[in-house]
Amino acid sequence: MDLTLPEKVALVTGGGFWGTRAIERAGIRSVALTDGPHGLRKQAEGGDHLGLGDSVAATCFPPAAGIASSFNVELVERVGRALGDEARAEDVAVLLGPGVNIKRSPLCGRNFEYFSEDPLVAGELGAAWVRGIQSRGVGASLKHFAANNQETNRMTVSAEVDERTLREIYLPAFERIVTREKPWTVMCSYNRVNGVYASESRWLLTELLRDEWGFDGLVVSDWGAVDDRVAALAAGMDLEMPGPQASSERAILDAVTSGSIDESVLDRSVARVRALVDRAQPQTEGYDADAHHQLAREAAVESIVLLRNEGGVLPVEPEQTIAVIGEFARSPRFQGAGSSQVVATRVDSALEALLPRASVEFAPGYSLAKGDDASLRKDATALAARSDVALVFVGLPDGDESEGFDRRHLELPPAHVELIRAVAAVNPRTVVVLTNGGVVSLEPWHDEVAGILEGWLLGQAGGSAIADVVLGHANPSGRLAETIPVRLQDSPSYLNFPGDNDVVRYGEGVFVGYRYFESAEVPVRYPFGFGLSYTTFDYSDLEVAADSVRVTVTNTGVRPGAEVVQVYVEPLESPVRSPVRELRAFRKVWLGPGQAITVTIPLDRRAFSHWDVTTGGWQSGGAYEVAVGVSASSMVLRGSIVLPSTKTRGRLGLESSVADWLEHPVTGPIFRREAAKSGGLEEGGASVLDMVASMPMRRLLNFPGVPVTEKQLRLLAALANNPVARGVARLFSRD
Ligand code: BGC
Repeated sequence: MDLTLPEKVALVTGGGFWGTRAIERAGIRSVALTDGPHGLRKQAEGGDHLGLGDSVAATCFPPAAGIASSFNVELVERVGRALGDEARAEDVAVLLGPGVNIKRSPLCGRNFEYFSEDPLVAGELGAAWVRGIQSRGVGASLKHFAANNQETNRMTVSAEVDERTLREIYLPAFERIVTREKPWTVMCSYNRVNGVYASESRWLLTELLRDEWGFDGLVVSDWGAVDDRVAALAAGMDLEMPGPQASSERAILDAVTSGSIDESVLDRSVARVRALVDRAQPQTEGYDADAHHQLAREAAVESIVLLRNEGGVLPVEPEQTIAVIGEFARSPRFQGAGSSQVVATRVDSALEALLPRASVEFAPGYSLAKGDDASLRKDATALAARSDVALVFVGLPDGDESEGFDRRHLELPPAHVELIRAVAAVNPRTVVVLTNGGVVSLEPWHDEVAGILEGWLLGQAGGSAIADVVLGHANPSGRLAETIPVRLQDSPSYLNFPGDNDVVRYGEGVFVGYRYFESAEVPVRYPFGFGLSYTTFDYSDLEVAADSVRVTVTNTGVRPGAEVVQVYVEPLESPVRSPVRELRAFRKVWLGPGQAITVTIPLDRRAFSHWDVTTGGWQSGGAYEVAVGVSASSMVLRGSIVLPSTKTRGRLGLESSVADWLEHPVTGPIFRREAAKSGGLEEGGASVLDMVASMPMRRLLNFPGVPVTEKQLRLLAALANNPVARGVARLFSRD
């Protein structure tokens, strides 16, 4: 049925906080879009958008910061399927996630909702998430597109990012997911990108997303991200949320009636909203909450990263007595605050999970409200002194990190640091269990404790998962998806975060996270990719090809365990300044004691490429090392490979530099021979030709005494630009 103009306008504006507009006359129903990402937050219409109000109970899986450490694509896909089932059970058409923004700074208040500082990890895990959700007939909303890497001024700030950095760091996760998984929707971010609101950027929403990547779904605004509705519509921003928005609707009506925007532009977005509504089939099948809780526990186990284990303090032996210290053991913080906050179906605390399984005593050690920390610390220290092992649960309280603001430092609360040090002073078998959405500093107490478990935020079953790992019923297999720096000041965006006067300059370029630390050789506390296990692994027989890496991994210990095989590529002669190495593939493998497995991991050409601004495309070629590492800073095996260049040589002309003339297969040999003959071109060992290498040839011509005329050069250029001559020259240069 044809829609009237006002009906069309209504359809591209929300019908409430969480739904599209119903047009009953035309039989178009309203469908629900709700948060996300790590659990369903379905609120009653009119509920408060900030997530403080009630929403239906749902499984709270580990937020992205946690589950990213699993490096387990298959696990994330299973979580995605469970999320899809829960959404379906509540008749939700689209779950608002995953968030695949890059952790540019450890301070970003929303880092707990994002996967990694590395685009491959964010892209692979985000893709699995989308695959899982959408396999259940529920749409994903890939967010926040794009360059939304901070909360400070997130509604207006302009992220000033050069194109190479966008292409290599901030866009690839989106690109991978859009091209491979076809998400039903993409959510544009609040911020501006290079001066233009993401919601109004035709380059982002149409040229890149649709024309280049082939996106055929719907673009939805982040909630309240539309500044100029007509400009947004023209750019390709289909659905404004939330709604209704009388002023936006009026603006579109006026623009179409006055002819300042063609009605076909509106029709395009209307068609996309209708396609979304048609795609979403009403469903209300139930789901198995117990099975989902078990899955949340499995996911939490794989999210935990064992950072330190001196003297094999973990796992705790069955006969050892355990002092469980820290309020977080009893009252866990398992997710971040803001729009992603889920009302969990149930919550396991580590204390409850440990009590029936070990000899445990508890002391809170600090108070989450303002309390007498000194006397709590005293009791806790006394308990630690009389126990075999002390587990100290510390981390960031709820108010310290949230959507909407960035952190200002990486420190734990002082009471937590004091507690760690006091306990470690009386018990050499002290293990710190961390709860934090974003990276925290492990200084100055790191060397004083025997063990550290980085627990991130683990979702509702995190307490049981910690007990599983502490007692050795599960072997930790998490690896850091982000670097833990020694100091905040060491992080690459330190001086450029969060910007001034509503502008943030991504001055560190492609050198984000480990790409910087490894290239500049800045020491870190723990590198990206790092994580210990209760067993050990050995690597052998690396074979490197242009399209794959083959390697054998052996479990050389006595326990079953999982290893994350990390493949890094190091360009040896990049024409542009590039990170010393970049993660280009990974695979998690499970091995019994003594077991070996040979894995073949595909590599695509992109793994060897950089974004070339001169051609506006991906270029590769030259010599590379391909290394298998146990973290970004520790390579265990290496191979090398040389690939032909993909870059076609530009045409040679008088504007080309002297270097271009010298490197050209046709003109290079001629020039060098003539230079050698004239003899006068050597000066103090350096060739004059090399000294003027960057000068355009036209300018060199005007130099007195240059023994070549413009006419000769034009003839030579014509010869050089002739493909036959180039082929012949190449043939002879090979002999
Ligand atoms: C957040 C989104 C979220 C939306 C709906 C916004 O404030 O940035 O991530 O999906 O609200 O709650």
